[in-house]
Amino acid sequence: MQIKKVGILGCGLMGSGIVEVCARAGYDVVVREVNDDFLKRGLDKLEGSMNTGVEKGKLKKEERDAARARIRGTTRVADLKDVDCVIEAIVEDRAAKKEIWTEIGKVVKKDALLATNTSSIPLSSIAPATGNPERFLGLHFMNPVPIMKLVEIVKGIQTTDQTFAEGKAFIESLGKTTITAKDTPAFIINALLVPFIIEAVRLVEAGTATPEDIDKGMKLGCNMPMGPIELLDFVGLDTTLSISEVLFSEFRDPRYAAPPLLRRMVESGFMGKKSGRGFYDYSKKGDKR
Ligand code: CAA
Ligand code: NAD
Repeated sequence: MQIKKVGILGCGLMGSGIVEVCARAGYDVVVREVNDDFLKRGLDKLEGSMNTGVEKGKLKKEERDAARARIRGTTRVADLKDVDCVIEAIVEDRAAKKEIWTEIGKVVKKDALLATNTSSIPLSSIAPATGNPERFLGLHFMNPVPIMKLVEIVKGIQTTDQTFAEGKAFIESLGKTTITAKDTPAFIINALLVPFIIEAVRLVEAGTATPEDIDKGMKLGCNMPMGPIELLDFVGLDTTLSISEVLFSEFRDPRYAAPPLLRRMVESGFMGKKSGRGFYDYSKKGDKR
């Protein structure tokens, strides 16, 4: 199956980045959001990212313009009927993912490659909703998508070798490097990263240290590009809470249990950088406090 046109579900933090890398690699892209406001917000973010790419010398203006011309936004699921590959990047919620896959499964071509960008949800629990579990796999991009080199590929129990090979070839065509994981909760990256992040929240909760000192410690002491609290704000508190819930519900291990402080912040609408406030305040442009 030769992929020419890619359909992307969700134009949030991850979806907008996936649209960008696909369009930059020469694919035609149609991206579906729930309404025009969310679509505009996502496409504006994408435009800002491509402009940054131009400013940083990673992308020529003509390449940006050509990539932009390959992207079409929609709010209609039916507009994905002729795509060769679907990448779902909607909220980290099992019920929502099953619902959209049931809808998509009814309109998409029978031989299309079907991929989810889930951070943690076992594929086997979503695969039946697609109506074509043999063609379904996990393509887990990292945030920020245009910059991060890795994509974690997840092979579900029913994913065929052919589907896996096509998924890997597609990711390599985007200039990314892959690792492979089995269909276990949170796969490789988040099985390691999320316990680290929630442990940092427990330190804040216990009054052991401030977010600033925890981040400074891990950046200057361990050479990480971002400290765990900064990274939590960057990934999204809602997404991280969902990942910890997937891990905890599967293993019942207390180390995965969401700290109450994380849950209270999500309930209060503090989702991190994307909502303007998490552990830090991003309400003033270019100023993180
Ligand atoms: N397109 C292409 N390249 C771009 C670009 C764009 N739109 N924007 C920036 N770049 C390039 C820059 O030119 C620069 O390249 P060089 O190194 O060649 O100079 C590079 O990307 C870094 O850009 P900046 O200098 O602007 O950014 P920075 O140094 O402030 O780093 C960061 C930003 C890359 C985000 C860094 O802080 C970082 O690595 N943070 C950690 C990110 C991380 O851990 N991500 C994984 C999160 S977990 C996840 O994603 C999984 C999950 O399921 C939750
Ligand atoms: P986000 O909240 O930024 O964006 C999700 C988007 O999905 C929203 O814009 C929402 O309107 C849209 N959406 C919801 N239901 C939809 C539907 N039925 N059809 C189309 N769009 C719909 O979230 P995100 O951070 O982009 O995460 C998306 C997915 O990527 C999640 O599964 C998440 O776990 C995964 N992921 C996130 C990160 C990260 O760092 N945030 C990294 C890797 C993977």
